[in-house]
Amino acid sequence: MQKYSLKYILQELKHYKKELIIANLIALLAVVIITPTPLLIPLLVDEVLLDKPGVVVNSVNSILGKPQESYVYVLIVLVMTIILRALFFILSVLHNWLFSIVSKNITYKIRKDLLNRISKVSLSEYENFSSGKILSLMMIDVDTVDKFLSISISRLIISILTVVAIGFVLLMIHWQLALFILLLNPFIMFLTAKIARKVSKFKKQENAKIAIFQEALGETLDLFAQVKASNQESKFVQKLTNRAKDIKNAAIEFEYKSDAASKFSFLLFLAGFEIFRAAGILVVAYSDLSIGLMLGVFGYLWVIMNPINEIINIQYAFANAKAALNRINAIYDMKLEPHYKHIKNPFSNSLTNSIELKDIYFEHDKDKPILKNINMSIKKGSKVAIVGASGSGKTTLAQIIVGFYSPTKGEISFDEINIKEIGLDVVREHAFLVLQAPTLFNDTIKFNLTFGENVDDTEIKRAIKIAQLEEFINSLPKKLDTIVGANGVKLSGGQRQRISIARMVIANPNIVILDESTSALDVQTESKLFDELSLFLKGRTTIIVAHRLSTIKQADFVYVLDKGEIIQKGVLEELLAQDGKFAQYFNRRKKR
Ligand SMILES: Nc1ncnc2c1ncn2[C@@H]1O[C@H](COP(=O)(O)OP(=O)(O)OP(=O)(O)O)[C@@H](O)[C@H]1O
Ligand SMILES: [Mg+2]
Repeated sequence: MQKYSLKYILQELKHYKKELIIANLIALLAVVIITPTPLLIPLLVDEVLLDKPGVVVNSVNSILGKPQESYVYVLIVLVMTIILRALFFILSVLHNWLFSIVSKNITYKIRKDLLNRISKVSLSEYENFSSGKILSLMMIDVDTVDKFLSISISRLIISILTVVAIGFVLLMIHWQLALFILLLNPFIMFLTAKIARKVSKFKKQENAKIAIFQEALGETLDLFAQVKASNQESKFVQKLTNRAKDIKNAAIEFEYKSDAASKFSFLLFLAGFEIFRAAGILVVAYSDLSIGLMLGVFGYLWVIMNPINEIINIQYAFANAKAALNRINAIYDMKLEPHYKHIKNPFSNSLTNSIELKDIYFEHDKDKPILKNINMSIKKGSKVAIVGASGSGKTTLAQIIVGFYSPTKGEISFDEINIKEIGLDVVREHAFLVLQAPTLFNDTIKFNLTFGENVDDTEIKRAIKIAQLEEFINSLPKKLDTIVGANGVKLSGGQRQRISIARMVIANPNIVILDESTSALDVQTESKLFDELSLFLKGRTTIIVAHRLSTIKQADFVYVLDKGEIIQKGVLEELLAQDGKFAQYFNRRKKR
């Protein structure tokens, strides 16, 4: 994958040589067909009404052998005109279809590559982006590129061909009138395009106000419960009302201006049209142009306006696409997580693994270390607790062990195999981190337990039983098919935590990390859960992060973290007996 630019688009277009060649041949044929069409009926004015037989009448006579009644010529020409227009219709549908294939395939590829790229972005980098920003890049900006593709590659060629062909016919009809039209028309279209740009600018300003209102409204609604809880609703409503007023003021100003501008641009267009028609009549009056040909020129005026407009507007589509491609590159510029080759897999042939951390150092922002000099050696199948004050780096450390983040410095190994020979994705597959505040998909409980994978019902039942969810789920009318609401709002914090634990049981990982994952449970439920869980965790390397002494009492070994460093370690009783942070933390004093 390379950075997005117009060069990239050109390279992509090269993959569709066959389609583009066929489409352009079709376009050429379409132009050949449509060019003489507007002239046929007007020719009848001269040849039939004014009785000056020419190409049409002579051709019909030579085919049918003798002169005909007027209506025969009119009928034949009418049928021919309609057939030609129908042919043009079919060709342009075909042509558009081929070009859609090309342009939609390219935008699909851009979206696909971007999604692929996002899936490989390092999590710490991803956290700097809001989902709204990525959404708008993927939708609006890719769409802008799509628009550019469809007018540039599909219509530009046909527009140029049409203008050239009709220009040629006009020059043949009357070169002075043709020059007048061909020189003045682009100028008028340029002015109307400029005014149209103004209109869209007004609209953009109005949209910006709407976006501000929408964002504020969305946030207030999302945090509505908190706003209510702090009795701030009137303040928030006032703020939103002011934003709504901004929209009103902007809309009043922009709406009449944009309406006036678009009507003025149409006026210019019509004025040009009338000038050309007047010029046509003058040319008939003062030179040898026939009335029929003049009417033909009037017909061409309509046909030529649109292509000229498109040729002029290509510069704006071009500028928009360039800017959009630049914005899309923000996704391209996101740092990727290191890609380690899958050389060895310590997880596949073993039920559990040891973990070794050597001199781990981690920072999100430069020179602001969150973890320093972390050394740990966790034996296969042992239970280790990590304790420490809020913000000391426990969750970050857990995330590093399961491969969410890769450390800035230092080495991690499982069964003495370095993570660089295993691959972060493989680690994530076998080491499961149960979060303190898990968020759920707005889907059924079952989906949240299995992530849509095929899991045996007995397996699910067992997990639910271990996680102390049996009673709760049985009390629900729809049981496992209950929808949990956005982020799982319809469940309590503790229920969400238990779902997350059940999910871990189903995932059956080699290594389990519980990051305050039972903090929302009452002591009794928590103790019952750990009783049930102990069999599952038996012989499985487990790390428990917790604030309650009761939660970590089963740990074989404890690490105490403070400001990103390990300041104490040892077995629980020893640590409680020492006069250190650990003992202070749990309000125990050295007994002696
Ligand atoms: N994405 C981030 N960017 C910058 N700093 C971060 C980021 N995530 C966490 N931090 C910082 O890292 C430090 C450690 O956070 P961490 O979540 O690991 O603490 P913790 O020990 O788990 O705390 P708690 O007990 O409250 O869960 C905190 O000071 C926090 O502000
Ligand atoms: Mg934490």
